[in-house]
Amino acid sequence: MDPGRDDVTTRVLVTGGAGRLGREVVPRCLRRGWTVRVMSRRPPPGHQEVEWVMADLASGAGVDAAATDLDVVLHLASLPYRGRRTDAVDIGGTQRLIQAAARAGVTHVVYVSIVGVDAIPWPYFRKKLAAEERLRRGPVAWSIVRATQFYPLLDTVLSWAARLPVLAGPADVPGRPVDPADVAARLITAVDAGPSLGVAEFAGPEAPHVRADCRAVAGGYRSAPASPAEAAPAWPARPGV
Ligand SMILES: NC(=O)c1ccc[n+]([C@@H]2O[C@H](COP(=O)([O-])OP(=O)(O)OC[C@H]3O[C@@H](n4cnc5c(N)ncnc54)[C@H](OP(=O)(O)O)[C@@H]3O)[C@@H](O)[C@H]2O)c1
Repeated sequence: MDPGRDDVTTRVLVTGGAGRLGREVVPRCLRRGWTVRVMSRRPPPGHQEVEWVMADLASGAGVDAAATDLDVVLHLASLPYRGRRTDAVDIGGTQRLIQAAARAGVTHVVYVSIVGVDAIPWPYFRKKLAAEERLRRGPVAWSIVRATQFYPLLDTVLSWAARLPVLAGPADVPGRPVDPADVAARLITAVDAGPSLGVAEFAGPEAPHVRADCRAVAGGYRSAPASPAEAAPAWPARPGV
């Protein structure tokens, strides 16, 4: 926070604020009374309670302007599974964002990553891990919150897979999918706590197995996610991972 400022409202930039997680994060920031700026490549969709900044993390266009006059960056933007375009957004874009934030005097960058990026060598996970590294080595104090797969993503993937006659893969792998609303709440907590210089891992309360999830989706009876009240992290934060 700039000591010369009269107002003490926290000023937050949410990259990817128009995405699935961002749409849960932004209203929570507003309810906290924070001044919210959303970064998107698209024009603003009509009247907004937020300041809307068009920027492209891949090219760097607009990133410096998006990072000025801020306290905190909640960095959610990502472009999964697009090869070099993912590199440009997730790795190069994270680097550009951190540098711009440092020049602008931002005091905290919160990055949302994925549980398992350090253990599973999938290409997208490697890119998320590389982005985490940019934060760790960067000039701005940081926190990383790794979440498990969001329910809507799981439903999309399994609905697609359910169209196949046979699904090959390990059936008994447990997962702990999470409601993006709960992840959003966890990110707000991370902002409140200040830079942890560590990794917290966050997961949903249930651990269904892949077999059960596939059956549920194929049968059209997938249960609704547990309510946020029940969704205290079954896999709680592990600071310093
Ligand atoms: N989905 C999951 O299951 C899951 C699980 C754990 C962690 N996460 C992480 O959570 C974060 C958000 O995921 P999500 O599901 O909300 O993703 P999403 O709905 O796909 O949103 C991603 C956002 O990234 C922005 N973006 C993409 N390319 C950009 C660029 N070149 N410049 C600026 N912004 C760009 C997009 O903004 P515009 O289109 O508005 O430009 C979009 O709103 C990601 O970092 C992801 O890795 C996701």
